[in-house]
Amino acid sequence: MAKQFDVVVIGAGPGGYIAAIRAAQLGMTVACIDAWSTADGKPAPGGTCTNVGCIPSKALLQSSEHFEQANHHFADHGIELKGVSLKLDTLIGRKTTVVKQNNDGILYLFKKNKVTFFHGTGSFVAHVDGGWSIKVAGKTDEDLVAKHVIIATGSAPRALPGLPFDETQVLSNDGALRLPAVPKTLGVIGAGVIGLELGSVWRRLGSEVTILEAMPDFLAVADQQVAKEAHKAFAKQGLVIHTGVKIGEIKSGAKSLTVPYTDASGADQKLVVDKLIVSIGRVPHVDGLGVETVGLKLDERGFVAVDDDCKTNLPNVWAVGDVVRGPMLAHKAEEEGVAVAERIAGQHGHVNFGTIPSVIYTSPEIAWVGQNEQQLKKEGRDYKAGSFPFMANGRARALGDTTGFVKVLADAKTDEVLGVHIVGPQASELISEAVTIMEFRGAAEDIARICHAHPTLSEAMKEAALAVDNRTLNF
Ligand code: FAD
Ligand code: NAI
Repeated sequence: MAKQFDVVVIGAGPGGYIAAIRAAQLGMTVACIDAWSTADGKPAPGGTCTNVGCIPSKALLQSSEHFEQANHHFADHGIELKGVSLKLDTLIGRKTTVVKQNNDGILYLFKKNKVTFFHGTGSFVAHVDGGWSIKVAGKTDEDLVAKHVIIATGSAPRALPGLPFDETQVLSNDGALRLPAVPKTLGVIGAGVIGLELGSVWRRLGSEVTILEAMPDFLAVADQQVAKEAHKAFAKQGLVIHTGVKIGEIKSGAKSLTVPYTDASGADQKLVVDKLIVSIGRVPHVDGLGVETVGLKLDERGFVAVDDDCKTNLPNVWAVGDVVRGPMLAHKAEEEGVAVAERIAGQHGHVNFGTIPSVIYTSPEIAWVGQNEQQLKKEGRDYKAGSFPFMANGRARALGDTTGFVKVLADAKTDEVLGVHIVGPQASELISEAVTIMEFRGAAEDIARICHAHPTLSEAMKEAALAVDNRTLNF
């Protein structure tokens, strides 16, 4: 006898588990199915984000930054350390513990909100009386019937043609988060978010890291002034980044890999490395979902096709997160999950794509929201820009971390904030103020007039807003 639910969510990543909790809060009966397992076969809800993405990468970034500080920066504070050494298994073990705390936290939240969790692969069987028949293939199989289905099956790493991931030499984000030893040399294909974050982790731990990027501009998605400042800082740290390359046929030997490429000038080059991270973007994940069985429409790039409300071509079937168009970010997935649950309940859930922040958790951190200068120029928008360097911020000096700046872009006539771009310490936290202001369609003058605590890094945001009107007080 099939178990009946108002909503069945397939996938318990940030899109799926949040959608399930919100739907349950709104009084619906909800099940969430997720296939991810720990090494010993236990459920590991949380998706890519929790298991091999946001959370473990930030744990390793934190640990490796401590190592970097102990090796190179504590002495500036008069703290002399002798014989600093690395216990990589402890560092990776700590990351595994952090991941497990998050897995367990989601299972707890499911219980608290009365979401029924099924561990296994969920697939569409047919449209039946009362909704959609969904099969769960796990340790024990289950048959469910759902009035509404939310697909939140996420994404998978994109491999280079002819070079599958083996997770020992050729690494996706998965293998790159659990190397058993620090490689002497590490190559990274793609200077995007994963390449920069995980490249930074292993460089700090002792690898010689070389990143090869196809695009001529470094971080073409970011404001180019920010990108240049970040590039300078990464180069100083010893992260080697070559842009405008074309990768040839990669050969893997017993102990090393050879990556032939042509550089930006067209000259032939060769990189020989112990390990290679391939981080050239991700692809939507729909394997095992039964797409053809029920005629679920995919777009030309393989994403589940949805409208602005996350509705698919099938009645009462919705899709959210990495498996649909839009930025592949956990917070975007979560917002879509909440919005869909609210729409199912007859409310008017909404996601504002214009105020989704982007963050790269390197050192310095990079964060932005809204439009950058290249985009505004291309649009022919009349705008004003105000910047403030962390060098002139008292708290940044006290921290000993003065790289970078905050830049506020505002409409020339109305002063409405159109974009904020930060490279520097705690950019990931500082960007929230900009998101809030932009959600309220506030002006640079609004930020400039708000009282910011002293001494804080957030004063750089206030000063950048003042700079829009040429009236910084501390620079
Ligand atoms: P996912 O998190 O991929 O979850 C999908 C889940 O569905 C998985 O558990 C999968 O096993 C399950 N599933 C798939 N098919 C089925 C099926 N048929 N039946 C049952 N279960 C199924 N984003 C940020 O915002 N900030 C970051 O700092 C950040 N860092 C990242 C670092 C790395 C290394 C990577 C790879 C990604 C990072 N991301 C980050 C991106 C973020 O992880 C994704 O945007 C986010 O996980 C997408 O959430 P989702 O719910 O759509 O999918
Ligand atoms: P990405 O899209 O950020 O970067 C991929 C890079 O690879 C691009 O710069 C691209 O030009 C380059 N590239 C593509 N093909 C190439 C080739 N053949 N040779 C050389 N370079 C090539 O993708 P990435 O880093 O794999 O991350 C995947 C997703 O995960 C991103 O969409 C990102 O949003 C998300 N993510 C988010 C994080 C965060 O929010 N802090 C952290 C890590 C990942």
